[in-house]
Parts: sequence; structure tokens; C-alpha cells
Amino acid sequence: MNTEHLLQAAKEAGLNRARPLASNFKVGAAFEFSNGAIFSGGNTEDRGKTIVGACAERNTLAAANNQMGPLSEYGIGGTVGWRQAAVWANTPGPITPCGICRDFMSATAVTPEAQVLSQCEGPSRSIFTIGELLPLAGRGPGGDVKDEIEAWRLNGGKITQLASSDSNPLISRAMVAADRSYVPPFSNEPISGASLLTEAGETHEGFLVIDATTRLGGTAISMAVRSALVGPAERTPRVIAVGLYTKGDVLRAPTGCDLQLLQEIRAKHGDVDVMFGCDKSAYKTTLDALLPHPFGRNDLGY
Ligand code: THU
Repeated sequence: MNTEHLLQAAKEAGLNRARPLASNFKVGAAFEFSNGAIFSGGNTEDRGKTIVGACAERNTLAAANNQMGPLSEYGIGGTVGWRQAAVWANTPGPITPCGICRDFMSATAVTPEAQVLSQCEGPSRSIFTIGELLPLAGRGPGGDVKDEIEAWRLNGGKITQLASSDSNPLISRAMVAADRSYVPPFSNEPISGASLLTEAGETHEGFLVIDATTRLGGTAISMAVRSALVGPAERTPRVIAVGLYTKGDVLRAPTGCDLQLLQEIRAKHGDVDVMFGCDKSAYKTTLDALLPHPFGRNDLGY
């Protein structure tokens, strides 16, 4: 299918099938899959009582998975993956997928070069590859990002290697927090910890919480953000740096979902330093580098 048709399918879904009961923000997405199939869908929102709302991109991928899946994982296995995506929104400028959608889209694309087109009510359009939108998606075994870091560096990615995890103060704090992780005995997820530094010079720690049934736990970064938000000292803490530690030899970067959360409570000015490490290696980069062209407050007008 050509690009214009895919953009048209995204617009049709956004105009006619979006259910933006809370925000009135209409979004549509359309994906072309490796078998030629096209799926499209809109965003779904509740009025606010529940957390069931989801973006157009994730809704559409979930529908495709349930009709013809399982979708492949990072281009491997499964029945199909997507090779081109289009997004439409009733905004003046084109929007980009949020971090959560970038996670799911990275995992189900046939390659990191798969293109994401975006248009809106205005005349401008944007085009990115999914690899550009989430450079460290975790395509390696167990979510490892070592190979992606090398590829990203060759493409100009701004990331530097640190001597070790315990050479960095924020990752060191994250290491201590990681030991408090709460995971069910059957989980094979490595434990992890996070430490946030706010504008006021305070640090807030979090650790992985996976509960077996309700899924009300969270990643180390999300738990640190919650802790910062309920902490006693600051009204609205603004994050200027974050450290993430994952126990073991697999090197993980913050997920798109966690990057989106950091985007929400980052300081108004300046970039956010992001340090992450495991027992073998550690790196330093920034939020703007890991989550370029973020969807966020500007798109929603606040
Ligand atoms: N939204 C999408 O559907 N796709 C995007 O790429 C960004 C955001 C939706 C989710 C929610 O219903 C509303 O826009 C506001 O975030």
C-alpha cells in the first residue's frame, strides 16, 4: 500500500473511531504488515474512573495480534511484523508516538528501519524510523542494549561509557535500592533499582515491584517517580538526573514507558542526564537522546 493510503487510513480511524472521552484528542493509527495486511484504529479513553485507555498505535497492534498474531518479536518468530506505520491527530502539528507505544512498536516492527509517518490537521508531516524514535529498545537477549549502543554511536548517538556502575553516585544509590525489589518466586526478571535527582537536590529511590496478580507494582524508575511525587519536601519535584541499575550481566536501558514518565516530570529547562548500568558495564546519556521528539505536554497544550 502506498504511503498516502496508509495516512488516509490513519485519518479515517482517528476521525471516525477514536473515543477520546476525557481529552477530546482524536488520534488514529494505521499499520502495514509484512503479509500486506492493513490494520487501523483510534485511541480509546474512559472518562477517568479506570486506567483502560490506550493510544491508537497500541490499540491497533493489539487488534492485529488478536486477528493474525502472535506478532513477531523484534522481527523474529511470530506470524507477521509491521513494516510501515502512519499516525494522524486532530492537532495543528504532527505528533509522535508516546514512549509506551514506542516500546510495543519497536518490539513488533520487522526492522528498526521501519518508518513512522505522521500528519495532522495542518499541512506539515513528519517521518522517522522506529529506531530513531527509540534507539535503545532492548533487542538483545533478555532486553540487552549493548549491540544497539554500538550501532547508535556509529550513527552519532550521544552516549559515553562509565568506568562501572558503582563509579556513579546515582547508579550506586540504585544498586542499594535494587536489593529491596519485590518479585514473585516464579519471576525470572532481573531485579533493578533507580535513583532520581531533583532540581531541589533531593534524591528519591525506587525498586522493581512485580506482584503476581493485580499488576499494580511497577518498574524501578516508575516506583522512584511515585516516591518523589508523594515525598514530603517538594510540591512538584522536577527531575534533572536518573540512575538505573539492573542486577546481572544483561545491560538494560530505561524502557520507553519509563522515559515517557520521566518526560512528564522533567525539569522545565535543560536536558535530563540518564545513567544506567549492570554488573558488567555502565553508560551515560540523556533523556532527549533516548526519547527524541517526545509526545508530551506541548502536544496536549499544557
Ligand atoms: N495518543 C495516541 O493515541 N497516540 C499517540 O501517539 C499519542 C497520544 C492518545 C492517548 C490519549 O488518548 C490521548 O492521545 C492523550 O494522550
